[in-house]
Amino acid sequence: MIARAPAKAIVSGEHAVVYGAPALAIAIARYAEVRVVRQGDPDQLTLILADLNHQSRIDRQQLLHQTDTANQHYQDFLAGTAPIKAVLQQPSSLYFYAIGTLLQLFPDLPLGLEIRIKSDIPLGSGMGSSAATVAAMLAAIAADAGLKLSDQQLFELSHGAEQLQHGRSSGLDPAVCCWGGMLRFQDGKFEKRTFSNMAGWYLLDSGRPSVSTGECGVQVRQQFLHSDIWTEFAEVTNSLEQAISGGQSELILDSIRVNQRLLSHIGVVPERVQQLVAQIEAQGGAAKISGAGAVAGDNAGLVLVYCPDKTVANALTPKMTLTPLQVAANGAASVLS
Ligand code: PMV
Repeated sequence: MIARAPAKAIVSGEHAVVYGAPALAIAIARYAEVRVVRQGDPDQLTLILADLNHQSRIDRQQLLHQTDTANQHYQDFLAGTAPIKAVLQQPSSLYFYAIGTLLQLFPDLPLGLEIRIKSDIPLGSGMGSSAATVAAMLAAIAADAGLKLSDQQLFELSHGAEQLQHGRSSGLDPAVCCWGGMLRFQDGKFEKRTFSNMAGWYLLDSGRPSVSTGECGVQVRQQFLHSDIWTEFAEVTNSLEQAISGGQSELILDSIRVNQRLLSHIGVVPERVQQLVAQIEAQGGAAKISGAGAVAGDNAGLVLVYCPDKTVANALTPKMTLTPLQVAANGAASVLS
């Protein structure tokens, strides 16, 4: 059984979505792919993380035990007594945790599996690599075992694992990876949006951040938990959504520029990336970080660029690599339905 899940780009509302503001995100055509093969002892499983050259084996008892331990460490994180890094410590921990929670939901699930995960989504760069690999893996295991796992359950399990990976996850990443297309997401609920025209949108990689999403989330929370700035984020997300659906390119440009300034204000856009965006603006385009960004270092991961005028994009390409945004219409949940 093979399942795949797309990467995602947040169009607007990163960080703000954690504080109840809406966000708009889109699935993009880069994929995590998971192959599940039946093999050997029905009480054991082998996990292969092909991109990390990592392989590990685990049995049912250890899996359930590790899941409980991870939940306890997560409670310590929530209580402020442990850093988020202490919750899932090994490369395999995220995947074992997700499978452990699937086992708690379906205790008769047979193991005896070799699970191979590979992904062409850059790690830790704001493209939802962890959510996509987890959603594809759970979808592949469930489909292979013929489990009646609903799309909503797939989302909830993926979101559960994402919480332990990122500290406090709004659920936006797993929702896009599970359902694909464009979503408006708020307070744990999403609505699908149509995207008739994504011409003029590009992805730009500013380099892998030196800090994790979880670490960015902790710093933003310390400084802005009770701030009014989330209302401004909500307004800009709403105007961007209207502008995209109405194809109003001037309003899209304005909204992205405002959005980027708000993100810089909360401290998640390193100086070097602010300068990169300034170069794009100087040519008549607009750009913003997409994802958690970075509270330290020079890199901020994914940057979303909008240049409706092709000559602007052409003028920028000698200096930077702009990849046209290609939307992925389906998410991991399409394997189950
Ligand atoms: O993991 P990233 O870089 O895609 O960031 C996730 C988006 C945040 O809003 C920062 C966190 C969340 O759970 O929504």
